[in-house]
Amino acid sequence: MNNPLRDLDDRRIPRVAGPCGLVIFGVTGDLARKKVMPAIYDLANRGLLPPGFALVGFARRDWVDQDFAKIVHDAVKEYARTEFREEVWEQLVSGIRFVAGDLNSDESYDNLKRVVEELDITRGTRGNHAFYLSIPPGLFPVVIQQLKRSGLAESDADAWRRVVIEKPFGHDLASAQELNRVVGEVFPSGSVFRIDHYLGKETVQNMMAIRFANSLYEPIWNSNYVDHVQITMAEDIGIGGRAGYYDGIGAARDVIQNHLLQLLALTAMEEPTSFQADSVRLEKEKVLRAVVLPRDIEKHSARGQYAPGWQGGVEVKGYLQEDGIDPASATETYAAIRVDIDNRRWAGVPFYLRAGKRLGRRVTEVAVVFKRAPHLPFSATATKELSNNAVVFRIQPDEGLTVRFGSKVPGTALEVRDVNMDFAYGAAFTEDSPEAYERLILDVLLGDPPLFPRHQEIELQWNILDPILNKWAQKGQPEQYESGGWGPQSAIDMLARDGRMWRRP
Ligand code: BG6
Repeated sequence: MNNPLRDLDDRRIPRVAGPCGLVIFGVTGDLARKKVMPAIYDLANRGLLPPGFALVGFARRDWVDQDFAKIVHDAVKEYARTEFREEVWEQLVSGIRFVAGDLNSDESYDNLKRVVEELDITRGTRGNHAFYLSIPPGLFPVVIQQLKRSGLAESDADAWRRVVIEKPFGHDLASAQELNRVVGEVFPSGSVFRIDHYLGKETVQNMMAIRFANSLYEPIWNSNYVDHVQITMAEDIGIGGRAGYYDGIGAARDVIQNHLLQLLALTAMEEPTSFQADSVRLEKEKVLRAVVLPRDIEKHSARGQYAPGWQGGVEVKGYLQEDGIDPASATETYAAIRVDIDNRRWAGVPFYLRAGKRLGRRVTEVAVVFKRAPHLPFSATATKELSNNAVVFRIQPDEGLTVRFGSKVPGTALEVRDVNMDFAYGAAFTEDSPEAYERLILDVLLGDPPLFPRHQEIELQWNILDPILNKWAQKGQPEQYESGGWGPQSAIDMLARDGRMWRRP
C-alpha cells in the first residue's frame, strides 16, 4: 500500500551522525552564537554526534583554540536548550579548533586545510566535513571559490564535503541565479544545504503529518470549502542590533521570500508520493510555480515601518531612529501581500501573507479560513457571533492546532457562537521539541536533504516577490505604523477591499 508517511516512520530509528566535523565561517555573528553553537551542544548532549566530532571556527580574530572554545562555552551556557553537563562539554571542547584568517587570503584556507586534515587523524573525522557559511551573502562567492582552490571542497568515494548556506539567497531572482551558479560550479547539488530554519521547526513538519496522515482535512482542503488563507509571522521585537543586515533587505526579503512562501507551499501542495527529498520538493515547486500575483499589486500589498512609541510599557525607538539605520531609509519592517494559486484546487482562494516587526505580540500561524455554511437555518441574531470556521496551524509560540467552529451557547435561546478546539504540544506529548537548528544541522551531517529547499524553489520564490519589490521600490517611504499595534492602515484596507479582515492572533 502506498504510504507517504513511511519515510517519516523510518526516522524513528535514532539518527546519529557518523564521524565528521563542522567548520563555521562567521563565528562572531549572532546566528552562530545564539543558534548554531547551542544546537551543536544540544545534539552532543542528546548523543547524536560522534564522540570524535570536531568544530572549527574561522574568523579574522587574534584568537587561539581556547578563546574560541570560551565563545562556544558562553553561547552554550546562555542559549542551549538542554541542561549543561560537564562531561558532554569536555568531550565537545576536545574537538574545538580555531583558524585565525581572512576570507580573502589563500594562506588562511591552506591553514584551515591543515587543521581539518589534522582532525582527520586526531579525532577520526575521516575527511567528512561540512562548511557552514554564516556570513553576509556578498562573501559567499569568495569563500566558495577558496574552498575549491584549497581543495577543501573535494569529496571522494570515502569522504564527503558539504556546504551549508544561510539566507538571504540573493537579493532578487537574478542575484539568486548567479549565487546558485557559483555554488553549483564547486559543489554538486546533493552537497548543498540551504537553510530555511522554518522547515526545521517541529510544527512546520507537522503540517505535512496533519494534512496527509488524516482523513479529516484533505476532503475540505480546496476552493469548494476554503474562503482564503492567512499566513502571519508577527514579531514583537524590533531589528535589535541587526541594522547592518536588515536595512536594504526589509520584511519581504527577510522572511516572506523564504519562511512564509515555504509555509504557503506546505499548506497548498499536493500529497507527495513519498517524503523523500525529491518528491516533497517537486510538489512544493509545482505549487510555487502556480502562484500568480494580482494585476494591481499596489492595491493588494502593503508595507510599513514601525514608528517610535511604547511597547509593553517600554518606550521604543522607531525604525528610522534605530542605531545604524539611515534616517531616510525606505526599508519596510512590515509587509503584506496577496497571491493566488492558479490550479484546480485553489482557484479563487486568496492567500494573504504578512510579516512585521514590533507588532502586538510574537506569533506565527497559518489560518485556513473556510466559507460560511451555504445556508444557516437560524435567525440572523442567533448567528451574529458566528464567524467563519477555521483550521489554524499554530507554528509558535503556543505550538499546536486550533479548529474554530460554531457551537450553541448554553441556555434556553438558540444562539451560536465561535468556540475553539485546541491541540497543544505541551498537553499531548511529554517530549520537548528540538530546536529547528538541531534538526537541520543533524540532517546536514547525515546528508539527509528533504528539509532543505533546492535552488529551483529559491528561484521560484524570488520570481514571486520580484515584481512586488520592484513596484515598492518606485514608491518611496513606507507608511509608519504604531509599535505594539498590528501594522499599517494600508494593510487593513488591502483586506477590506476584498471584504475580509486580518485575524487578531
Ligand atoms: C529570521 C529572520 O529568519 O527569522 C529574523 O532573519 C527573524 O528577522 C527570525 O527575527 C525569526 O525566527 P523565529 O524562529 O523566532 O520565528
